[in-house]
Amino acid sequence: MLKGKRILLVISGGIAAYKALELIRRLRERGASVRCVLSRSAAHFVTPLSVSALSGDKVYGEIFSLTDEAEMGHIQLSRDADLLVVAPASADLLARMAAGMADDLAATVLLATDKPVLVAPAMNVRMWTHPATQRNVAQLQADGVQFVGPVDGAMACNEYGPGRMSEPMEILAAIEAQFAGGIRAPFHAGAPDALTPITSQPLAGKKVIVTSGPTHEPIDPVRYIANRSSGKQGHAIATALAQAGADVILVSGPVNLPDPKGVRVIRVETARDMFSACFLNLPADAAIFAAAVADWRVAVESDKKLKKTGDVAPSLQMAENPDILRAIANTDAKRRPALVVGFAAETDHVVDYARAKLDKKACDWILANDASPQSGVFGGDENTVHLVTRDGVEDWPRMSKQAVAEKLTARIADFFKSGVVDA
Ligand code: CTP
Repeated sequence: MLKGKRILLVISGGIAAYKALELIRRLRERGASVRCVLSRSAAHFVTPLSVSALSGDKVYGEIFSLTDEAEMGHIQLSRDADLLVVAPASADLLARMAAGMADDLAATVLLATDKPVLVAPAMNVRMWTHPATQRNVAQLQADGVQFVGPVDGAMACNEYGPGRMSEPMEILAAIEAQFAGGIRAPFHAGAPDALTPITSQPLAGKKVIVTSGPTHEPIDPVRYIANRSSGKQGHAIATALAQAGADVILVSGPVNLPDPKGVRVIRVETARDMFSACFLNLPADAAIFAAAVADWRVAVESDKKLKKTGDVAPSLQMAENPDILRAIANTDAKRRPALVVGFAAETDHVVDYARAKLDKKACDWILANDASPQSGVFGGDENTVHLVTRDGVEDWPRMSKQAVAEKLTARIADFFKSGVVDA
């Protein structure tokens, strides 16, 4: 996926700069070419010689170097890249980027580019949580800059908390995701159809349970009751949440889909197995119930294959399955996720029925989708949904299931940031 891609890697000053060397190696192993720019202070932490040896290219650092400018001007450096990656991104460089400064070559190439920019911050926990840095991060996100990390961890300064740079393999995954998703142009808040971008890892440290797919309810050893759910929406949600940094547990019924990257998958068959798997994984910060759980099962499953006996068709005695969404939404406060989201597949009166379901199940949000046969939602790649909360209804335009997943993830991130959602 990275073969032939041109990465301009900006390394700024910080202990984590040594991890940039590993990142260069991993990128080149995958066929990408890497050209490096060192910020003013980076050379205190990694030597230009080792960066040059690993990247197989000259290292750039001086904006007023006549030789550098003659060989490759700073504008050309930005132009010649498919993606700019800043790793590590120090608090100082983030501040200069947010302010649009061009006081060294690193800041200048970042200002002169119209290419996507991915940054991997690394700094002391207090610097990261300082309102000034958070202001700069918010500004950069609004400008369309993508973030990977930082993560929680022990730091060189003997403190613990958010601020540690993501590991090289995580940065690599974020780079691959940039190319896999088709690199997006910076997000313009005013554009009505613009996808809500996941520009950082706002859900880092949050544990989220997602259910997906159908359930299979056995009749006998060879027959079962099922439904048409493909699992595409639930799996897309798990993927988007993981990309936003959440620790995702995907409890999936039988589906023909690959496991989403970076997600723990628990495979189940029946509603009762799904119920147990969800409860076993509590407590969690959020739970999203996208599975099409069978409401009913056969009361007594035959342990032998049912045989045709004369002219009488067998009649199946049904029993109600546990309602996982309702049970988790009503569980004790210690274990109840702060945000419980259900789905409602309706063929008519979509929003009215969804509102009723919100109360009946005691969940926080319902994503209601039009599941009428003409909508093509079952098995299809698109969805038309309405986000129903206690404060109102948001009608989302018809969009891909991936876009629904990303928009929902952005809403969940807003919820954890502010504790509320605008609808
Ligand atoms: N759900 C669940 N466990 C069940 C049934 C449903 O967790 N046993 C969840 C689904 O994952 C979904 C929501 O509940 O998030 C859908 O509600 P449901 O009661 O299945 O809707 P319908 O069956 O369509 O309800 P009704 O027949 O009343 O319309």
